[in-house]
This record gives sequence, C-alpha cells and structure tokens, in this order.
Amino acid sequence: MCGIVGYTGAKKASAILIEGLKKLEYRGYDSAGVALQHDGRLVINKAAGSVADLEKSLDGNYKSIKVGIGHTRWATHGRPTDENAHPHCSCSEEIAVIHNGIIENHHSLRQWLKEDAGHNFRSETDTEVLAHLVEEYYEGDLLEAVRKATAKVEGSYALVVISSREPGRLICARQDSPLIIGLGEGENIVASDIPALLAHTRKTKVLEDGEFASITPENVDIFNSEGKLLNREIFEITWDIEAAEKGGYDHFMLKEIMEQPAAVKETMRQRINTASGKVDLSELGLNGEELTRLEKIHIVACGTAYHAGLLGKAVIEELAGIPVEVDVASEFRYRNPLLKENQLVVVISQSGETADTLAALRLSRQKGLKVLAITNVVGSSVSREADEVLYTWAGPEIAVASTKAYLTQLIALYLIAIYFGEIRGNLAPETAAKLVKNLRALPEKLKKILSEESLSKLRKYCDHLSSWDSAFFVGRNIDYPVALEGALKLKEISYIHAEAYAAGELKHGPLALIVEGIPVIALITQKAVFEKTLSNIQEVNARGGAVFAITQEGFNDVTKQVESVFSLPPVEDILAPVLAAVPTQLIAYYTALARGSSVDKPRNLAKSVTVE
Ligand code: G6P
Repeated sequence: MCGIVGYTGAKKASAILIEGLKKLEYRGYDSAGVALQHDGRLVINKAAGSVADLEKSLDGNYKSIKVGIGHTRWATHGRPTDENAHPHCSCSEEIAVIHNGIIENHHSLRQWLKEDAGHNFRSETDTEVLAHLVEEYYEGDLLEAVRKATAKVEGSYALVVISSREPGRLICARQDSPLIIGLGEGENIVASDIPALLAHTRKTKVLEDGEFASITPENVDIFNSEGKLLNREIFEITWDIEAAEKGGYDHFMLKEIMEQPAAVKETMRQRINTASGKVDLSELGLNGEELTRLEKIHIVACGTAYHAGLLGKAVIEELAGIPVEVDVASEFRYRNPLLKENQLVVVISQSGETADTLAALRLSRQKGLKVLAITNVVGSSVSREADEVLYTWAGPEIAVASTKAYLTQLIALYLIAIYFGEIRGNLAPETAAKLVKNLRALPEKLKKILSEESLSKLRKYCDHLSSWDSAFFVGRNIDYPVALEGALKLKEISYIHAEAYAAGELKHGPLALIVEGIPVIALITQKAVFEKTLSNIQEVNARGGAVFAITQEGFNDVTKQVESVFSLPPVEDILAPVLAAVPTQLIAYYTALARGSSVDKPRNLAKSVTVE
C-alpha cells in the first residue's frame, strides 16, 4: 500500500529518493518522509502531505548525502500526521525504518518494549515497534538485529532499515509485501515497485518472502531466514520508462484508456495462432485430460478485477460449459468455500499483490486445488505463488482507477473460455474460429470509440452528469457486469454516488429514486434481452429519468426511445462488454474532470491494497 525507496551509492540520495517516491506516490499518499545517513548520524525529514511538500521542505539541502531511505504512507495504524509518517526511529535515533504492511502483534510488542525494555514511543503506528525492536537486538550487526526483530513479528512487511553506525548499508526484509532491488554500477536501489527503479537500472533481484538483503554500493547479498547466503538470478525489466509516465496526457487514467487498443492486442498476441486461427494457451500447464475433467471453476478477485470475474463466469459457462462461481476475495477466504477435486480456482489481480486475493490463492492451494492467476505484474506475489499464470500484457497501470488492466483481464477470460471450450468439445470449431476473428478485430473497434468525435460527445454528456450527486447504471445479462464496473469507476473518481442494477431489478426498489432528470446510464448491447431492457428504459423515461444509452450501431429502436445514445461499432454480442466498458470509463473520467476531483489519485483509495 505504501511506497518504499532506499538508495546507497555515490549520487545525491535525497534527489533519488524524492524522484522514486514520486513514481510510487500512487501507492500511498497521505504523508512522506526520508532518513538520510550522514557523518555518523541520521537526518530525518517527514510530514503529512505529498512528496512535493517533502521535496520543498528539503529545499535542495543535503547535497553531499549519498545514502538514505524514503517512504510514502497510506494510513492503516494511526492517522496521517507528521509523527506517524515514516521513517520511524529508535530511541537513540541511530536506527530508522520504513515499512509497508501491517504488524499484527504490534500491541503486545509495544507494551513489552515500553514497560519491560524502557523504550519511548513517538507515534501511533505499528511500524514504530520495528525500529525499537531492531534497537533492542542491535549488537553491531544491523542484518542480525533485523533478523532477530522480524522473528518476533507477526504480519506482513517490506522493510528497509538503516543505522548511523553502518555507513552505506541498507538492510531489507520481506514478508507478504513486495521489495525489488535494482542493481547499478557503484550504486544500488531498492523499492516496493518497479517504476521507482527504471530511471536507474533494468537489472533487478526480487526479494522473496522470509528473505533479507544487505545492500551496499558495491554488493547485494540475499539471505534466507537462517542466514544462508542465496544465489538469486538477475531479472531484467523490459518495461520502457516512458510506459510508466503520462506520455503527454493530462492524467495517467486518460493515457491508460487510450492505450487499450494496444493493450488488448498485446494480450492476445502469441496466444492466437495466426495460421490456424486457434487460441493456444499451451503456456499454461493444464492438459486436455485435466480440462475435460473440470467440474467447476471458482473465480476470486477484488474491485474491478471482481467485475471482470463476473463477466468471466458468463463467458466460461457459455463457451466452455463449466459452472463458475465468482467471489469477492475477502468473502471467499472467510466463508469456508466448498473446494473439491476436479475444480480450478482462477484469481484475477492487476497488481498481483492484493492481500485478500493472495490469501484466497493460498487457501485454495492448501486445500489441494490448482490456482490459475490472471495478473499484470510479472514477479508479483500472485504470479509466483499460483500454479499457472496468464499475464495480461497491459503494461504498468498507474491511475488508481483500473481501465486497461480491466479490459485485458476480460480478454484473458475470453481466451480461457474459448481454449477450454474447444478442448472440452463444448465449442464447435467454426464458432470458435468466428469468435477468434471477432476478438482480433476488437483493437480497431476500440480505436473508433476513442476517436475525437466520440470523446466530445461523452464530454458534453458529462457536463450534465457532473451536476448530479447520484446516478444509476443498468443492464441485463452480460451488460450487467459492465454496469457494475461503470458505477464503480464513476464513484471512485467523481465521488458521485452511483449504483448499478440488473435492469430487471429496477422495479424492486430503485425506481423509487427516479426523479426528473436523474442520470441513468443504460447498457443495451445484447439482442437476446434487447426488448426487455428497452422496456426498463421506458419505465425510467416515464418517471422523468434522463437515460443515456450505450448500445450497438444498428440497434435503432433505442435511438427512438432515448435522447442521448452512444453507439458502439457493431460487434458479436458476447464480445460487446469489451467495447461498452470504454464509454463508461470516459464518462467517469470527464465527470471527474468537470467536478475538479483528483482523477489519478482519488481520495481514500490506493492502487494496490496489500493489507487486509
Ligand atoms: C484496488 C484498486 C482497484 C483494483 C482492486 C484490486 O481497489 O483501486 O482498481 O481493482 O484494488 O486490485 P488488483 O491489483 O488485485 O486487481
């Protein structure tokens, strides 16, 4: 959830830390701080506020300091105040710690450290216990002290620790929270996420759970929990630095929406055999016999990824003929799900680090089920722990509101449904071939939706929408998960209260809220339920609601009934959600702009939710 950067080398550490923290700011943004190692002491600078505020307070000082750690915080234990900002220090102020995660037994540790060991605490955070614990165990070797301290700790952590007594040395520890070490020439950098490293290096070493690292400008040594030196392969990052920056758009979200045609194409690439026109997911180690035996699939995810899962259910049931259950990960892990043999668990996670999704994955594996992960981040916890991984090749997604990752998750699910369906003999080869052809045509159709003409139409509609505090999204069949995702996007970034309903449910409650002019966004892209949805639109019309319909070109009856219509390029009905999602993303974007809200970093939300 929080962002972590540590640097040791020959350059000005504060500038490198600030630059890295800015790249990570989306991970946590209520406070920021650095600890710099200088002349046998630590210089701490931290406050509630943004990284830019921190940068101002440093005011170009500390030019000669070449070692330090920095942190951006998203509050979990303790309010976002100056005192609670990281780094946290030991009593002597000789040891400073930055931490991402949650120390679950911090109450008892704090009590022991205060009452029995005489430590003085300055913050309300769980993290501060780590600084005092390391101090308690320090006998001249920071690595050893961190190892002893973490042995006392229950919970999750990515930690970087420095001591004024050990110049040039960073000590790291990881449990259930990511840490990646970037390797340089005469310098090394550690961070909780890749964008913070890219300006410096593409060569990395990933720290695994239960491991520690000792980093100096010349060396990176990784140890297991018994202190054994490990040999870790170098992992080369192929992402372009530009890909992690805004690329000329006002917001990451708009840039990422615009990248969708390419992201969708990339995710299909190499998985569709152009010669045979068949989906080929042999990259997954699932054999035909296993797939034929499958009796049920459980899809587990959070947030937007959960909405992708809802569509996944419909398409897998339809195309592969396998019953699918979809769960929110935080419910799944605590509801004792009936997991049996001949079942498969599919977890979906953009970041691959969502705590609840990871816990659901672990639970499923403990119960002996195979887990297939759909994720966007190579080397993420989910990708490393799942039995099989199908990567979405969306590239780094920075805006908190997920767009391109979501669309590529849908593509991954179609590919799975078609592949499983063909192998199981549920999908006739000609039906599969047609679907594949239509899938491959999606990027061009997406480009049409992203044309200036469409954008200006949506912008105009959002001027109306932005003056309301409440809105509805409705749809039937596979339009319904799109409605759910559309409502989530709108509430996340425009702060308008948006509710999604299966259109048939309108008369079971929400119609009572339909008043003159209230915005109702109706998804109507499915021929099978076209008339039914149209009737629901009429029910809204009759009560004065202002319907904005998202439909397919050629569905002319909609245009007759509704004032504002956005027509998607014609598409095979089952694939319509990929196109229909895009105008809902743009509606959220332009409405947030019109209301002046913070598009890329909505209040109270974080991109990667690595705590429960
Ligand atoms: C947060 C993000 C959402 C995302 C969800 C699940 O809430 O703001 O955009 O859908 O987490 O994240 P994941 O990385 O597991 O897909």
